[in-house]
Amino acid sequence: MNDYLLDVQDLKTYFKTKAGYVHAVDGVNFAIKPGEKVAIVGESGCGKSVTALSIMKLVEQPSGEYMSGSIFFDGQDLLDTPESAMRKVRGGKIGMIFQDPMTSLNPTMTVGKQIEEGLRIHLKLSEDQARKRAMTLLEQVGISAVSERINSYPHQFSGGMRQRVMIAIALACNPKLLIADEPTTALDVTVQAQILELISGICEDFGTSLILITHDLGVVAGTTNRVIVMYAGKVVEDATTEELFANPRHPYTRGLLSSVPRLDEVRHAELRTIEGTPPDLLNPPKGCPFVPRCYFARAICNTMPPLEALPKMATHRKACWPDITDQKEQAYAERRRQARVEAQKTASEEAAQKAAQKAL
Ligand SMILES: Nc1ncnc2c1ncn2[C@@H]1O[C@H](COP(=O)(O)OP(=O)(O)O)[C@@H](O)[C@H]1O
Ligand code: SF4
Ligand SMILES: [Mg+2]
Repeated sequence: MNDYLLDVQDLKTYFKTKAGYVHAVDGVNFAIKPGEKVAIVGESGCGKSVTALSIMKLVEQPSGEYMSGSIFFDGQDLLDTPESAMRKVRGGKIGMIFQDPMTSLNPTMTVGKQIEEGLRIHLKLSEDQARKRAMTLLEQVGISAVSERINSYPHQFSGGMRQRVMIAIALACNPKLLIADEPTTALDVTVQAQILELISGICEDFGTSLILITHDLGVVAGTTNRVIVMYAGKVVEDATTEELFANPRHPYTRGLLSSVPRLDEVRHAELRTIEGTPPDLLNPPKGCPFVPRCYFARAICNTMPPLEALPKMATHRKACWPDITDQKEQAYAERRRQARVEAQKTASEEAAQKAAQKAL
């Protein structure tokens, strides 16, 4: 036994398709302590949602297959847990909030009934007790005039209010872990901030561990204590939030950070996105999946680097061969970047010349 609430080891979740296996989650390792708030970040398609769905054992069947690994949660391996027992885990010990509350809420049931349902099933509360607890929960997630609103239907609520209802449902049975998958992506910016603050605050008050999944590193600071960066189905960096922002050690994390607007910078026009796109997970490369987009790449990168702790820093892990803070490495990357810029310039000049000749 260890002191982790969740311990995911070498998790591989693939999808069988006509064209072959999609390596959606490809050897993921991370662990979360009770009360810890962790973000999983990465561009779209890098395996964040499939990681979350694997933990809940909700990966699409029959195409989704758990190829290897273990998911120890509260002392039991969920991959070995039968469906009947998983139903008790979902909504009981693990709560989940998705991006779009409209697809998770039942439009034909009042919000009160939807909160009470889980309380009656998992906590075996009476009708009366469940109603009282539902009212308290709605108050806790910041909904006013609860005695009226509890009898409303989801369509009578705004997007932000519906997400508050989802939070109340997810937290109803005092879960040990809350998984929030892009919970604010569909909301406008001010409501986003309120919802994130609410999720973070409630987890802190109840000692609930949090996995916040997002493609936006900008929402992480102030919400979570730790950040796990995923790329092409793998964890490439894992550090405390403070350390990750101050001392990123993976070129991909650096790329993500340079595309986050900073409050202390006036000119947002300089924001850079990472050139290129993630690899096709149907035929993932054998080595580091970031090679085609990485200025630090060299021959050894055709072998996958292990995810290892930095020297003397057990809480900061990275999967990258060189030390990208080394000045010689930075000079090497800068030379490769310049060469790419030159090559692009020449290519566009040649194209322009060809077009001009054609027009003659
Ligand atoms: N049901 C499915 N069948 C086949 N491929 C899937 C399925 N669900 C997800 N994938 C693929 O798995 C990869 C990871 O997806 P996902 O975890 O949803 O990414 P994200 O990081 O955006 O949440 C993507 O390449 C996606 O296309
Ligand atoms: S292992 Fe190589 S290709 Fe991968 S991120 Fe590090 S330097 Fe770049
Ligand atoms: Mg997703």
